[in-house]
Amino acid sequence: MEQDETRSVPGDEYVLDTPPVRAFIAAARESISAAFSPEEACEAIRPRFAELLADATWLPAEYQAAASESGMGGGIGQWLLHRAEDGSLSLFSLVVPPASETPIHDHLAWGLVGLYRGAQDEEIYRETNGGLELVERRALGTGDFYVLIPPRDDIHRVRTTSAETSVSIHLLTNDTGCVWRHTYEPASGDRKPFRSGYVNVACDDDAAAP
Ligand SMILES: [Fe+2]
Repeated sequence: MEQDETRSVPGDEYVLDTPPVRAFIAAARESISAAFSPEEACEAIRPRFAELLADATWLPAEYQAAASESGMGGGIGQWLLHRAEDGSLSLFSLVVPPASETPIHDHLAWGLVGLYRGAQDEEIYRETNGGLELVERRALGTGDFYVLIPPRDDIHRVRTTSAETSVSIHLLTNDTGCVWRHTYEPASGDRKPFRSGYVNVACDDDAAAP
């Protein structure tokens, strides 16, 4: 029987419900279910992710806008585009105004992250005895992306270095905005529970803390 590429699971949420988003998510799901490991899944998703970053037409301006009130602070907008009902996948944009930076944070899920617009510097940290160590600094330009497989490279901070707002696209295997993760103090390495939320949708259990 011919497969419908745009079929979806009941209850999945397409905040941005368009053919390109549905086709991308359907292909990503196929890759994830056919893969034996996160590495293999990410490798299979890479070509379509590169296409998504290169296509200037699919992401409406409202999902590329800064947000004055956001869990990340600094006018940083985290806009949900799609999430799976069971919390196993989310696609969102992260909008960081010029010179703004995120707190140091983690994600607690594997996936792909890439730059759709602008330029960013990314600092990657690892926890050491009693602190945080900066292990790598990367400059990302439009179209650059990387595979994230925790715990490696999971703790990071992102800063926009372009004169224009930067927009990155995240495909991660959790409901990143709604799970409890962590922010970190750079000097002490102190870790605090953190839930960023999304600008445009609520989390189910808004009152619940870990
Ligand atoms: Fe991040």
